[in-house]
Amino acid sequence: MPNDHDHPPAKKFKPGSVFFRLDKNKPGMLLPRKGNATTPIEVQRKQLPIYQAKPQLLNQLRQLHNAILIGETGSGKTTQIPQYLYEAGIGRQGLIAITQPRRVAAISLAGRVAEEKRTQLGKLVGYTVRFEDVTSSETKLKFMTDGMLLREAIGDPLLLRYTVVVLDEAHERTVHTDVLFGVVKTAQRRRRELNKIPLKVIVMSATMDVDLFSEYFNKSPVLYLEGRQHPIQIYYTKHPQSDYLQAALVTIFQIHQEAPPSHDILVFMTGQEEIEALARTCRDIAKHVPDGPMVVIPLYASLPPAQQLRCFQPAPKGCRKVILSTNIAETSVTISGIKFVIDTGMVKAKRFNPDSGLEVLAVQRVSKAQAWQRAGRAGREESGSCYRLYTENEFDSLIPMTVPEIQRCNLASVMLQLMALGVPDVMNFDFMSKPSPEAVRSGVDHLELLGAVERKEGQVFLTTLGKKMASFPLEPRYAKTILLSPDYSCSDEILSIVSLLSVDTVLYNPPAKREEVLAARKKFSSSEGDHITLLNIYRAFKKVGGNKEWCRENFVNSRNMGLVKDVQAQLRDICLKLNMKLGSCGTETGNVRRCIAHGMFVNAAELQPDGSYLALDTHQPVSIHPSSVLFQGKPAYVVFNELLHTSRCYMRDLCLVDADWLLEAAPEYFGRKLHPSKS
Ligand code: CDP
Ligand code: MG
Repeated sequence: MPNDHDHPPAKKFKPGSVFFRLDKNKPGMLLPRKGNATTPIEVQRKQLPIYQAKPQLLNQLRQLHNAILIGETGSGKTTQIPQYLYEAGIGRQGLIAITQPRRVAAISLAGRVAEEKRTQLGKLVGYTVRFEDVTSSETKLKFMTDGMLLREAIGDPLLLRYTVVVLDEAHERTVHTDVLFGVVKTAQRRRRELNKIPLKVIVMSATMDVDLFSEYFNKSPVLYLEGRQHPIQIYYTKHPQSDYLQAALVTIFQIHQEAPPSHDILVFMTGQEEIEALARTCRDIAKHVPDGPMVVIPLYASLPPAQQLRCFQPAPKGCRKVILSTNIAETSVTISGIKFVIDTGMVKAKRFNPDSGLEVLAVQRVSKAQAWQRAGRAGREESGSCYRLYTENEFDSLIPMTVPEIQRCNLASVMLQLMALGVPDVMNFDFMSKPSPEAVRSGVDHLELLGAVERKEGQVFLTTLGKKMASFPLEPRYAKTILLSPDYSCSDEILSIVSLLSVDTVLYNPPAKREEVLAARKKFSSSEGDHITLLNIYRAFKKVGGNKEWCRENFVNSRNMGLVKDVQAQLRDICLKLNMKLGSCGTETGNVRRCIAHGMFVNAAELQPDGSYLALDTHQPVSIHPSSVLFQGKPAYVVFNELLHTSRCYMRDLCLVDADWLLEAAPEYFGRKLHPSKS
């Protein structure tokens, strides 16, 4: 067994902060326990730790224009603060917005709060996420993704509909939250200057490191809800593990053998594929060991909501519950009953190389802050244990804090949005954590390449095309592809494809049924690539009128397919507002690929004489992901949607293209780069 170590994270409080000490003997500290479903919802609300601090909290929040609220995950910040404000009449002249980095969180939290207020979702309490708006004129408490509030700011930079903006899960530091920091700060100042109704900004975080937030928001006070963390025993491995999945498996079954079955296990992993694979292995092994039954529950963002809810249900008596989760369970989702946390120490996150302009998703080590957050999940209700599948030395070498996403992503999209917001000098926007000048320049270069911006005398301007691109809630290259589609008479097809790529995956790939899935997919598979294959599936889906049975037989996620239709309708509306002529190219899909080549040429790769591929802009070696329909073939040129870095750098979602189309799309750019082996 690994070494014993106990490392409570050092807490430091900012001088001048307000500290709410919660009385451990009061009912508020009684935690909603497993099987609390029968406790009336009003009682549940009063049992939350935050309830004890309600009067003092409201006192503070009433006076302050900016506040930072810190409290452990599950203390009741997100569900209660908006209701407290509303009930106390704070900000009644307008709406209260609560932003979330994840769309699933926004939807489920709105549902929960509507239930607590005993109203229908969409009335007093609603939500807005990309392509889905469940609000009405009655809505006062509006849960939304950070990206949606940002889009609203394009039409209304002062956010005049809102009197309070709660920036929740601020510690996650998503790109959108970081840009919003700047947007709300400006809106707040401008509203003061123009004598408009003031805007209250509340930043909420589950982690202690808030000095930056406080500094940025004019040294705003920090309100701490005292944590109710129980002691957690930390274990490290003696030696570095070469295979963290194997280490996780061994640890799960070691605990399963030794601990009572009522002690649930939460394992932090990196993504859907490895989670599904490990879940299958665990279920297989559990059948053959004498240590009792086990339910294994996967948890990741793209899982259908109904399946996500499974992680909250208690396991049957005598049965162990094992949850295999991505970092979604670090703070977004609160699960009760966890006694053991197994931390692989890994996370899948974006990484960006400003020299190459290439953004990749890569499996990498977590930060210390993340490791502590993960460990904390084991001590919510009583003392627990965390098994770190790495050595203490490895832990010591982790970076202290996760680098904000804004400092490790392609900034093209952000720059386009800032310009559409009318920010005068995007190169010097007031970011809380500034991205490097190279990354900013690279983002603007990317937009210039797409024709969205022009540089004149050192200044950057949005072109007419760029303005149109900003009207779409999409990455710039997708927006551009849609805007080009009338030239190729294939708008219907492009709108379908972009919609299919905009929702969580429409394909369902249960690993246990691999052969059946492959057989079902074959009917739709196109040698022209994944985009056309998806289009074929969508066309077939529409032909059968979205039949559920058909979806099941063909391993298609019917809910997400339904969403595709909504997304398409909304994108179509935007096109019509822009006076675009929409039409279909029928079965002539060559035009569709040509249009994709013109919109997505930045992500192109070329086959090399030795059978490998090189990305054309960086000359980096890339491979075709095994999930692609082109995996077996060797097309000379492809464009791809994204890069995934695991054991290799994989291109995902590929489209077969002609070299001529790429040259046509960007003659100067490719003049230098095409056929690198010959130049
Ligand atoms: O924001 P914070 O992590 O402090 O807590 P919260 O999201 O307001 O959740 C407080 C409690 O509400 C949780 O511990 C759950 O018991 C409950 N809750 C729920 O039942 N369903 C949800 N969708 C969200 C919260
Ligand atoms: Mg919360």
